[in-house]
Amino acid sequence: MGFHDLRAFIAEADRQGMLRRIEGAHWDLEIGAIAKMLHDTPANPVVLFDRIPGYPPGFRVLSNHQNNVKKLALVEGFSPDDSPMEIMRQLKEKRRKGVPLIPPREVADGPVLENREEGENVDVLTFPVPRWRTLDGGRYIGTGTVVINRDPDGDWVNVGTYRQMVHDAKTLGFFVEDQHHGKIIAKKYWARGQACPVVACYGQEVELFRASTGSSPWGRSELEVAGGLKGEPIDVVSGPVTGLPIPARAEIAIEGEVPPPDVDARPEGPFREWPGYYTQESAPQPVIRVKAVYHRNDPILTGPLGNDRNVIVDGTHHASTAVWEALERTALPGIRGVWDHCNGLFIVISLEQQFAGHAKMALLTATSAHGSGSAYRYYVAVDDDIDPSNLTDVLWAMTTRCVPENQIDIVRSTLSARIDPIVSPMKRAIGDLTCDRVLIDACKPWDWREQFGKSMTYTPEYEREIREKWRPALMG
Ligand SMILES: Cc1cc2nc3c(=O)[nH]c(=O)nc-3n(C[C@H](O)[C@H](O)[C@H](O)COP(=O)(O)O)c2cc1C
Repeated sequence: MGFHDLRAFIAEADRQGMLRRIEGAHWDLEIGAIAKMLHDTPANPVVLFDRIPGYPPGFRVLSNHQNNVKKLALVEGFSPDDSPMEIMRQLKEKRRKGVPLIPPREVADGPVLENREEGENVDVLTFPVPRWRTLDGGRYIGTGTVVINRDPDGDWVNVGTYRQMVHDAKTLGFFVEDQHHGKIIAKKYWARGQACPVVACYGQEVELFRASTGSSPWGRSELEVAGGLKGEPIDVVSGPVTGLPIPARAEIAIEGEVPPPDVDARPEGPFREWPGYYTQESAPQPVIRVKAVYHRNDPILTGPLGNDRNVIVDGTHHASTAVWEALERTALPGIRGVWDHCNGLFIVISLEQQFAGHAKMALLTATSAHGSGSAYRYYVAVDDDIDPSNLTDVLWAMTTRCVPENQIDIVRSTLSARIDPIVSPMKRAIGDLTCDRVLIDACKPWDWREQFGKSMTYTPEYEREIREKWRPALMG
């Protein structure tokens, strides 16, 4: 079984020594800056902020809670003490076997209904919503959020993570990339001249957030995926305003509607996006008109993942597991491991070459493995003596084993996203959100791999022997 609620996850992170509590930090930049600085330390703890000036004690903010492979191990029920590559292998195996789909369970009541405000009393700034970074265009309530809407043509609800800026007490900005299911659904309502009903949570079961940030096929509800990850149904209450499911153990939830953008759209952003840039100026985006707010006693607002250190970070790693699983599904042999750096912008596949063209087939397969997720750029294949999670190893292979003329290919004009900093202003202006992908075969050239210079220093057995014999000297 997974975590009963977000609080159970926080308690477990605490038990494992992975939690840091901070009191007294201000919502205006201080919380964001401290979260970033702690993210950049080797410990990279989960951070819980309390006693936020101007807000009642107990109204808390949680940040950096799902932003590296050890925390993902905790979320998905593996030991955070295993090596990163071993954790990744377990995550991939879980995907390969198939997470069972467990439909949500409707319940009459839940902690999220402990407090409720409707109509005139709605005020989203009841919560200590941070302005996260210096150049952000406002206070962002929806960063560690899940947003739920229903396909009007089908009997399923989508769940996705889409950012929300506070315009005023009852209005939120709503930024969703066009290819994401939440936007495709909203457009169906707008085409009929209707507002799209939505539920959004800001603090929810960790499995639900994990499912919300990963891609599921069109028509498959991430509520069911989250139930599968958790090992039991996500409890939901039926929203009195929208009829949409509200996760019953969420910390904070709202019900509202998104009118067609020609009825209401307001300048949103800018916001420092995950590749590490303010890619877009403030621009009109749809809004959520908030009709009702629900929250637990002493609610916990979840913040962004804190992945700010350029982008050379551990991220959500959805790309690694999707690519690894796809390679196995297409029956390509010899795959040793996959690791994505820079949140998926740089994906490395380690394989034992078994035939001519093997590495290139793996690279091609990888480019189509993660659906409409987001911006992806470099795909690198390395031999199986290279640890794909170790960038030094990967660079060594790229610089010494790759014959650029034959082993580097560019696939032009593939799907990207608005948040991709390399999409030029000219392309943006005409709605051409594409970028090129680069395939780098950094394996020893197949035809003469046997003659390639040897690189072994010592056998693993000999290294073990020396490590034992010289332990004190090597420790010093
Ligand atoms: C922390 C985080 C924030 C995200 N913010 C946004 C966002 O503001 N807008 C967006 O369109 N996608 C955003 N995404 C990506 C989507 O949530 C993700 O691609 C999801 O799979 C989309 O689901 P869907 O295809 O069901 O819509 C974010 C992802 C993460 C991990």
